[in-house]
Parts: sequence; structure tokens; C-alpha cells
Amino acid sequence: MERESWGGKMGFWLAAAGSAIGLGNIWRFPYLTGANGGAAFVFIYLLIVLTIGFSVMLAEFAIGRHTNLNAVGAFQKLKGGPWQIAGWMGVLAGFVILSFYSVIGGWTIKYILSSFTGMISTSTNSTDYFLNFIANGPQTVLYHAIFMAITIFVVYRGVGKGIEDTCKILMPALFAILVILIIRAVTLPGALAGIDFYLNPDFSKITGKTILAALGQAFFSLSLGMGCMITYGSYIKSKKDSLPKAAAIITLLDTSAAFLAGFVIFPTVFAFGAEPGAGPGLTFITLPKVFALMPGGQVWSALFFLLLCVAALTSAISLLEVVVAYAIDNLKWPRHKAAIGIGGVIFLLGVPSALSQGAVSLNILGMSFLDLLDFISNNILLTVGGLLISLFVGWVIPDIAKKETTSHGPFAFQTIWLWICRVVAPVAIFIIILGGFGLF
Ligand code: PFF
Repeated sequence: MERESWGGKMGFWLAAAGSAIGLGNIWRFPYLTGANGGAAFVFIYLLIVLTIGFSVMLAEFAIGRHTNLNAVGAFQKLKGGPWQIAGWMGVLAGFVILSFYSVIGGWTIKYILSSFTGMISTSTNSTDYFLNFIANGPQTVLYHAIFMAITIFVVYRGVGKGIEDTCKILMPALFAILVILIIRAVTLPGALAGIDFYLNPDFSKITGKTILAALGQAFFSLSLGMGCMITYGSYIKSKKDSLPKAAAIITLLDTSAAFLAGFVIFPTVFAFGAEPGAGPGLTFITLPKVFALMPGGQVWSALFFLLLCVAALTSAISLLEVVVAYAIDNLKWPRHKAAIGIGGVIFLLGVPSALSQGAVSLNILGMSFLDLLDFISNNILLTVGGLLISLFVGWVIPDIAKKETTSHGPFAFQTIWLWICRVVAPVAIFIIILGGFGLF
């Protein structure tokens, strides 16, 4: 049977942007910015995204389009040996990340519905509300199941009819919702203080930790380091489409989405005197408080969590596709079996994460099961994966890399890109890994 492919360039761009833009942009980026001092963090983040992020994305696209294979198959075909480990780590990361990502995706569904049932009210304590909800085992598992079922359904339908068509509708919808919310947020009285916090850098706030947080966030947000962009790149049919251009567009869309999400969160948080450094609870605890004080707050809240849910869904699809593509290419499973079977296992793996937030006491190494998986995947799997991918492209297959990116862009561009892959990105990533383990 012929391998599936994107219907066109636009479909690929939107699907890849759909993968990149997710909880990482709308939930994680603003809270990290808030906790790391605002504009200075944003500046460092942008710098990293434009150099290392863009380069690793282009590296993944080149591997994917050249081999037309999933992450594991691509490394096996190009070199084999220990390099396959990079592919295997990617598939493992797909399993692990999706298992807890879907739990948080489930929270967003709950919050869309709850926007209309008393959650958005000045008499509701949003901290208690959130903590009660995540400690309710049957509910969190139920919403996790619903989110996972939708993800499986889209992947089951395939690359063109499922992923591409879904993203073609949901991505423009996402940007439209974002714009509506920004207009509301920046016109609130007192919004200016938030914009100032967000855009006025204070470089004394930058520490080694800030830079590490920005690096890790760049990888997670751009869906890099686990072969996701290898997999999506492998569905590109035309050898003529420019990969540097695709990587530039997707990097730009992802960064804009994160940047724009900040224009919803910070003006709103400052206008109502909430705390920007509240951490992971910023979205689920602070924003409902703020919505409760806004006229029409229920509708704004439902719209916001719908935005978050849509963004999470198009990313979850790509996480599942990494594993499903491996099963289809290498194990010769039919797509429906791969989507349902693998999706089912990931659902089960997510149950302990769903329960670990208060329903049962499930702490390992001082972290809840969900936080532990988040820690392992972000600090080990994605970072080591990204390091291996850039070394691989820079040193093992530079000729293929040049061929996949040649004829587009001037010579200097290619040289700079390859040296970022060979030296700059690996060294920087190495530093993240050491930092992740507190070794300096
Ligand atoms: N990029 C997604 C986000 O920002 O939420 C998360 C993600 C998706 C990470 C796919 C990795 C991946 F392969």
C-alpha cells in the first residue's frame, strides 16, 4: 500500500503548526514567563528559538522528507547502529508525554463545561475549585478518556482526512479566538501594567536557571527532540517545497502563538491584581478568578478554555502519530489497529497521572507521577533526543542535509545552519541537561 502523504504544502504547514502550538504555548509559556521575571525571559526565549529551535526543526524535516519514514525507521535506514536509539527515545517520548498531556487536555474540557456551571463566580474560590477537581479521580480519568478518544479518532482517520483536515479548521479557529481574547484583555482598565511587565526587560533577572527554562521550553513548544517533525516531514511528497521556508513559517507561527497568549494572560492578570508568578496554576486558578470579575466572564472563560483545548488536541494528535507511524511502517500494522491499540495503552498509562493529583497519593522521588513523567520527558528524552538529532544531521549525514535544503537560500545560510547543528546546538543542549540535574 502506498504510504500516506499531505494533500499539499498548506496542509503540512498547518498540521506542523498544530503540533507545535499547544499547552506549551498557552499554558506553559505564560506561567514560565511570569515566574521568570517577564520580558527578559521572553527575550532569551526568542533568541534560542530563532537559532537552535529553527535549526533542529529544519534538521528533523530534512531527515523525515529524505527517508519518508517514522523516527525509528529513519535512523535505521540512514545509519542504524546506536543512532537508532534516538528514534526509540522519540517513540518512548511520544508514549510518555501523551499520557500526561491528555490528562491536562481533559482538564481543559472540564473547564469549558464548568465555565457555565458556577465556576466563574466571585463566590467561588478558584483554588479550591481546581484542587477539588484534580483530586476527583473518576472525573479526571473520565475527561482524560474523552480527550484521548477524540485524539484516537483523528489519528485513526489518517494523515490527510484526519490530521490535515482537522488542523486546517482548528488552527485558523485558534488564531481567531486568540485575537478576540487579546482585544478583550488589552482594553481592560489597568491592562497597561501587564503589557509593561511583559515587554519591558529587566536583564538583572536573567540567571542560569532562566536560560535553562527557556531552552527546555523552546524544545517542548516547537515539538522537537522526539522525531515528531521527522514524522510530519516524512509525509511531504514534493522534493521541491522549501524546507527552510517551512521551518521558518512554523517557528514563526509557534512563537507568535506563545507571544500572543501572553497578551491575553498578563494584561488580564494585572488588570485584576492577580499574581503573574503563580506557576502552573496560573491558567487554571488565576484566570477563572479574573474571568469572574469580568462582565460576560462565563463566555470569555469558555472561549479561553476552548482555545486551550483545541491547541492541546492538535498537539496530542502529533504525539500519537509519532508512535502510530512507527507501528505502521516498521511493524506493518494497519492504521486503525495502531491508533486504537496504542492510544488505548497510552490512555492506561495516563490513569496514574490523572489520579496522582490528589485522588491517590502517588509520589515518586518527591514528585507526583504526572510531574515525574513531565520531568523525565522534558529533561531527558527531548533534550538528549535533540542533541542526537543535531549531531546526526551535522556530522553523519551532512550531504543529505545539504541536498534536502539546497537550491533554497544562499550558501551562507546552509553553512551557518550546519555549524549550529554540529556545535552550537549540541553544546547548548548539553548545558540544559547538566542544568536539569542541578550539576552547575
Ligand atoms: N509542542 C506541544 C506544545 O507546545 O504543547 C507539545 C509537544 C507536541 C511536544 C509534540 C512534543 C511533540 F512531539
